[in-house]
Amino acid sequence: MKKRIFSGVQPTGNLHLGNYLGAIKNFVELNNDNNNDCIFCVVDLHAITVKQDPKELRDNIRETVATFIACGINPEKSIIFNQSSVSAHSEAAWLLSCVARMGWLNRMTQFKEKAGKDKEKVSVGLYSYPILMAADILLYEATHVPVGEDQKQHLELCRDIAQKFNNDYFAGDFFKVPEPLIQKEFSRIMSLKDGTKKMSKSELSDLSRINLTDDENLIINKIKKAKTDSLPIPSNSKELEMRPEAKNLLGIYSSLTNLSIDESVKEFSGKNFSQFKEKLSQVLVEKINPISDKIKKLNNDKEYLDRILLNGQKKANEFATNKLKKMQEIIGFL
Ligand code: AMP
Ligand code: TRP
Repeated sequence: MKKRIFSGVQPTGNLHLGNYLGAIKNFVELNNDNNNDCIFCVVDLHAITVKQDPKELRDNIRETVATFIACGINPEKSIIFNQSSVSAHSEAAWLLSCVARMGWLNRMTQFKEKAGKDKEKVSVGLYSYPILMAADILLYEATHVPVGEDQKQHLELCRDIAQKFNNDYFAGDFFKVPEPLIQKEFSRIMSLKDGTKKMSKSELSDLSRINLTDDENLIINKIKKAKTDSLPIPSNSKELEMRPEAKNLLGIYSSLTNLSIDESVKEFSGKNFSQFKEKLSQVLVEKINPISDKIKKLNNDKEYLDRILLNGQKKANEFATNKLKKMQEIIGFL
């Protein structure tokens, strides 16, 4: 049985090392496995849950496609498309919003974090966002959804929605209940400035993250300035528990080199951070530089990027429209 993989990334600019190590690196491996059918979606409808400048949004949609390809996703093998080009996503999201319960959404921690103290002023879309995400996944009968740790709760909600629809409408296993694919280790890359906060595109300081478009000097400089503590690197990984910044940097190193955290700790045990940081910068530059060059090159070829999206749209649309029609029949629409 082939696995059907679906995942989405928001086109909000500044895709960073967290997106790469937490999600896109995994997309590439899944894309390379012939046992999988992969669909990767640029979720522009999700992006507008906070205000976007139209020109920047257009640029960012294309840059997200460029990033997928620069990281190694093959558009001949995987479907790449943007969410708004397949209207079934919005329609299915409405239908599913009548299945999802307020109590379920009220528990979503990402909404609480993003809305902060200003709950009354954020968009309704930001609140119902996980329902749209469930529609994305369920329309394609995805069996597996690769995401970073921060999306785990949204996937559980998606599973609840699928099951409730199936039960409420006596629809058997009409909606497949998808499995999350979350890396066991390093699934949450933290800010370079604060090891207790997630690396994020919305963080004000650019020094808090490595962007996939950063050049060599910028990477070296950001790692130099990354927060650490005054102790040397310990001799075993348990001692990292109370040292979030050290743990994060060693985690990044391990993830990039495919080493376990114990192996990395062993390599640098007793050394100070300046020595470790030099090696980390080198590994980062080796990984990010070719990606960054390729993104910049592809960004100049809008026609190529648009062609990929159009191709993907045709394939995705056929699938999603079909599933939506069946949903409508099950619900009782004429
Ligand atoms: P987003 O940019 O929010 O659409 O996220 C795209 C993908 O990157 C999702 O699967 C996220 O879970 C993942 N991701 C975002 N930030 C991080 C992070 N700091 N660490 C690990 N994964 C992340
Ligand atoms: N909400 C996800 C994020 O912010 C992006 C997303 C939208 C997604 N639809 C999806 C991820 C469907 C996986 C599957 O990262």
